[in-house]
Amino acid sequence: MQLQRTFALLLLPLFVVCLVTKDKRADTHIERAVAPSVLGTQLIPVASFEYGFTTATSFLTSPLTNISLSDSALGVTRAQSNLPRPIVTPPSASSSSPPPPKSAYQATYPEGSINPGSDTPGGFGFYLSGEKSFTTRLAQSGTKEVLMSYRLMFQKGWEWQKGGKLPGVFGGEGDLAFGCSGGRQQGRCQCFNIRVMWRANGEGEIYTYLPLTDGNDAVLTSIPPRSIRNTDYGYSVGRGSFNLSSAVGKWVTIAVRVRLNSIGKKDGEMQLWVDGTSAINAKGLVIRGNNGATSRVKGSHFQTFFGGCSEDWASPQDQKAWFSDISGVIVE
Ligand SMILES: *[C@@H]1O[C@H](CO)[C@@H](O)[C@H](O)[C@H]1NC(C)=O
Ligand SMILES: *[C@@H]1O[C@H](CO)[C@@H](O)[C@H](O)[C@H]1NC(C)=O
Repeated sequence: MQLQRTFALLLLPLFVVCLVTKDKRADTHIERAVAPSVLGTQLIPVASFEYGFTTATSFLTSPLTNISLSDSALGVTRAQSNLPRPIVTPPSASSSSPPPPKSAYQATYPEGSINPGSDTPGGFGFYLSGEKSFTTRLAQSGTKEVLMSYRLMFQKGWEWQKGGKLPGVFGGEGDLAFGCSGGRQQGRCQCFNIRVMWRANGEGEIYTYLPLTDGNDAVLTSIPPRSIRNTDYGYSVGRGSFNLSSAVGKWVTIAVRVRLNSIGKKDGEMQLWVDGTSAINAKGLVIRGNNGATSRVKGSHFQTFFGGCSEDWASPQDQKAWFSDISGVIVE
């Protein structure tokens, strides 16, 4: 009896906090129009958002627009033409919850393949700005915070080697937003590129090209469990904060949120969720450097390959991965 009462007293403040938080949220942005499904909360792991699109067929309506999984509907540009990315029916997954997608972009990584510029390229790469109204909203100066997400499955028997790239978010000033990778040094304050990477044994991280400021260095290198500075190439952030082994033979949801900093302030954010669980959350960042007033989130850099740029990164066998349920929301 005594124990029960103590327990109830302990729970009471929690309950009150929940009520208050919920009320606050109701005042901001548009609420979900329908009860979210498990897949919905994985693809869009934020409490509310203003607008969005998804190619997922199994959930949600307004304020999400559903579009087909196709280059034209997704606003695909600058695709690497030497790398095939057919839309296929993916092989069956070893888990059917949430329901697997019915179609997916297929990436092929031939044995010995590394990055797209090498003699033996693998994977694929393109940029997408999403459904038309979404693209329009991305370009507006008031758009501060954007989340892009997708589902991914590696083939059964997948081999990691040293690491490889996975899609993420990109942006910057005009066309300087493109090509913010591959060791680029010019215009590093005018672009940002936040992709996901797998490393040996499936260790996950965010691989970032952000303006090279002391403040960003301090934030990025402090993200647990470990982060590695690399001022020539990208910073490895939060290496080991998730394990992509869960995506071998099964669909896993990756969501990346970016909040642009106010001009001249260090208040930008980047966050990553895996299956709806936050794995990395970095605050106090400068995502758009210098003046940066025209810098915007541009969409998703939908790129994947093994590497790295030397042969020790190469795919050890012919292997495949699938990408689907591509989504994006304007959070604010
Ligand atoms: C959008 O969803 C509706 C209702 O489920 C469906 O009938 C329609 O085909 C979908 N459109 C696209 C482009 O997937
Ligand atoms: C990830 O999980 C798999 C399966 O449990 C395990 O074999 C592997 O060592 C893990 N990777 C890391 C880096 O801990």
